[in-house]
Amino acid sequence: MKNKNSFFICLLLICSLAQSTFAQSGRIASRAEKGMVVTSHYLASEVGNEILQQGGNAIDASVATAFALAVTLPSAGNIGGGGFIVYHGNDGEQTTFNFREKAPLAATRDMFLGEDGKIKANSNHEGILSVGVPGTVAGLYKAHQKMGKLPWEDLVAPAIKLAENGFPSTHYMNSFLEWVKDHKDEELYKATAEAFLKDGQKIYKQGELFKQPDLAKTLKRIQQHGADGFYKGETAQLIENVMKKHGGLITKEDLARYEAEELKPVTGTYRGYNIVSMPPPSSGGVTLIEMLNILEGFDIKEMGHNSAEYLHVLTEAMRRGYADRAQHLGDPNFNPQMPVEKLTSKEYAAKLRETINPEKASVSDSANFSTAHLRYESPQTTHISVVDQEGNAVSMTYTLEHSYGSKITVDGAGFLLNNEMGDFNPIPEHTDTKGFVGTDPNLVAPEKRMLSSMTPTIVAKDGKPLLVIGSPGGRTIINTVFQVIINVLDHEMNIARAIEAPRIHHQWLPDITSFERYGISPDTKVLYEAMGHEVKYITNQGQAMGIFIDAEEGIYYGAADSRSYDGRAVGN
Ligand code: GLY
Repeated sequence: MKNKNSFFICLLLICSLAQSTFAQSGRIASRAEKGMVVTSHYLASEVGNEILQQGGNAIDASVATAFALAVTLPSAGNIGGGGFIVYHGNDGEQTTFNFREKAPLAATRDMFLGEDGKIKANSNHEGILSVGVPGTVAGLYKAHQKMGKLPWEDLVAPAIKLAENGFPSTHYMNSFLEWVKDHKDEELYKATAEAFLKDGQKIYKQGELFKQPDLAKTLKRIQQHGADGFYKGETAQLIENVMKKHGGLITKEDLARYEAEELKPVTGTYRGYNIVSMPPPSSGGVTLIEMLNILEGFDIKEMGHNSAEYLHVLTEAMRRGYADRAQHLGDPNFNPQMPVEKLTSKEYAAKLRETINPEKASVSDSANFSTAHLRYESPQTTHISVVDQEGNAVSMTYTLEHSYGSKITVDGAGFLLNNEMGDFNPIPEHTDTKGFVGTDPNLVAPEKRMLSSMTPTIVAKDGKPLLVIGSPGGRTIINTVFQVIINVLDHEMNIARAIEAPRIHHQWLPDITSFERYGISPDTKVLYEAMGHEVKYITNQGQAMGIFIDAEEGIYYGAADSRSYDGRAVGN
């Protein structure tokens, strides 16, 4: 008995030691020496870390983690959506993978408009027409084919296990499940009720095992046949069946034609550091680099973190970066003339800097953008940061667009479809101060990719990754990544503090800055408003997931944003 007790006490001690060594909370970063994975769900972080421990590299771990999140974080983790991977090896190799969704072949420029020229029944965000051709499986497969080390089957296996055996349900999913319960008798959402409610009827209680047998079967087809397990055969047929049944556009041909692509990253420098980020169809990298270039000419450290003077300069950089984003950016395969080089140049930033009055807010003017609809972008999406034993880094953000995407589940296949078509500009030539943008580069066209704000980024020093960072948050993503980078590089915060620090967001139009409530002092707000800025409060901005590599000490510091429900940095 005594022996048994001391065994359990020992076990408890080992567990708490493991917790304090490797698990992260709040402002204290997690430390590891051989590898680190940070995501919005602890089980997915653990899967990624196990792959690293099995000898997998950063690409292997990010692929396995992404499949695991498709099971444990159905709000944003997915196989029915799309996203981006940015890779930076310890040997200096840099590349990106673009697996953003595409418009189906039958899509048209005005497909969401009624006879009155207005958007019909929110059809770009809701219902079957809002679904884009998914890219995730193609992207993960392509990245693995090119750079993976462990067998593909081994990377899909942990997700299959989680889907088959189930994982403990948390309160996090309850508001979605309440919605599903209310809609369970509607034809369009019957398969969602079947997949997400207990016996198709009831909400899982906290801690009850949530199993997804149909999703496990789909994952097994992907495990066995690679990307073809999704884009061809039974899965493709099941997707086409849903489309035919509900008047959707995606066909087996759309699926068979879908290809992910490898792209050169967009790069810049900031105070001697290299910024490596996602090029279009993400607007993230270009806008981030433009804003950092503008900021480089100010002594922001001297201004002090989140002082009124500092917030003013940040806002003005954001205003200018987001105006250019709206005017110029879209899918490069359809907009070959995008001025990416100009927008990311130091000369252009210097000109923009000259237009900033240090004491007075500029005015966002939509008149310049008569052909331009700042559309709504959902704050849901999710980010994975990984560093392996060699110091190779992956920054990956992927999404279903809204939380749980279109909320339409593929009957018999157990996964949710995105509603990413809402990221196109739906009303051509309509831009207004409320935030509608109708610019040409991002209008709907067959097989075009919708513009994204996802900003998976790696900051490097002397050719080696230093900081791996990204976040969900729709259009706020770029500003979240922007502020975390500045917090580390200028304000010298550790990665956990840099992520926890209160953030702001301005996106050109509407001409309003959001502050996280309780984040910025009322005195600062008064000074900031006196310069001509308008402020609104929001609850939280983003869920950043980051890793800082201290090459000298040989330590990886990881931090999952406490704004996430189940986020965790896990390392070894
Ligand atoms: N759907 C969010 C984004 O792509 O930015």
